[in-house]
Amino acid sequence: MEQGQEIIPGVDWVGVRHRDLRIFDELFPTHNGTTYNAYLVRGRDKTALIDTVKEPFTDELFGKLEAAGGLDKIDLVVVNHTEPDHSGALRHLLARRPDLPVYCTKPAQNFLAQLLNGPFNAQVVSDGQEIDLGGRTLRFILAPYLHWPDTMFTYLVEDAVLFPCDAFGAHYCAQKLFDDEIPDFSQDFFFYFDCIMRPFKDKVREAVAKVETLPLQLICPSHGPILRRNPQAVVDTYRRLAVHPPASATPRALMLTLSSHGNTRQMAAAVREGVESQGFEVVEMKLCELRDSDLRDELELADLVLVGTATINRDAPPQVWHALALFSLVTPKAKVAAAFGSFGWSGEAVKLVEERLKGLRFKLAAPSLTLRFKPTAEDLAVCRKFGEEAAQAVTA
Ligand code: FEO
Repeated sequence: MEQGQEIIPGVDWVGVRHRDLRIFDELFPTHNGTTYNAYLVRGRDKTALIDTVKEPFTDELFGKLEAAGGLDKIDLVVVNHTEPDHSGALRHLLARRPDLPVYCTKPAQNFLAQLLNGPFNAQVVSDGQEIDLGGRTLRFILAPYLHWPDTMFTYLVEDAVLFPCDAFGAHYCAQKLFDDEIPDFSQDFFFYFDCIMRPFKDKVREAVAKVETLPLQLICPSHGPILRRNPQAVVDTYRRLAVHPPASATPRALMLTLSSHGNTRQMAAAVREGVESQGFEVVEMKLCELRDSDLRDELELADLVLVGTATINRDAPPQVWHALALFSLVTPKAKVAAAFGSFGWSGEAVKLVEERLKGLRFKLAAPSLTLRFKPTAEDLAVCRKFGEEAAQAVTA
């Protein structure tokens, strides 16, 4: 079995490699597998284990801990984040060492209570709190929503090493541990940010502000390579990625349309005229040819969201639901939305979309607008009015 590896004197990597992982959490493709990184930090008096690994890799973690001195030599565990890819082995560690103090945030304590389904020795930390391991100090830096409510970073003060769990990570499994001894993995790094961190840009900026002035020798994330080449540049990259796009002088509407027979698109054209008459720029995306990344970019820019959909088999088509599922992968700028569409013989889609928009916390600009089959000239006038009112709901 592979041994752990010293990364600086007194700090060991004791993580595991999941080389053949192809889809992380059954959600995100991982072209190069991933790692679940855990670290041992030895002070003069105490040894801390920072994070654990996914449960199926428990034996491998324990093998590394035994080789590094044994489970009995661990004095405390730091849980930076409770998602099971980092906390899965904790249950087994606590079965062997039930009194082990677990340093974590308050939300992490709550989550662990229901992940472990049993009592444990929780030591809830506050932002900036430090513990002394004997000549080595761990400082806890709360970083909520990077990317769960429970998340925090741990900073090893004397050695300028940051353990930020998921932040600054990448799903990338290499034979070597450090970023300066492996091929370029920037594509995986950016894809990871996009999937994991982008929904929480505001929180990323807050967390970056807490660490950007710290001396940094290493960033030791919980996935992928340890960042040694230029840790400060990685923090700078996160700051840049977390910036919201600048607001344009002209208000903007995003119009998503799916029109099987052209009737909803006729409505859309009239709605668009109404929106544009109020000084809006309208970006229309046909859902049958949507690129996910385009929609996510536009959602961060648009002040108004309009969804025009046909009804197919008593539902909105899958393309509509797919688009709406992407909304939670960013923080949409718009607070106001509206739905419309033409139907033939049932017409449920628009109501269902309206409910989904409400579930996404949009305020509805106007009651949704449905028409049967082909719009008349009078219908199109109603659509124009609908567009005007939707725009006015934003500017009001
Ligand atoms: Fe790598 Fe949020 O777990």
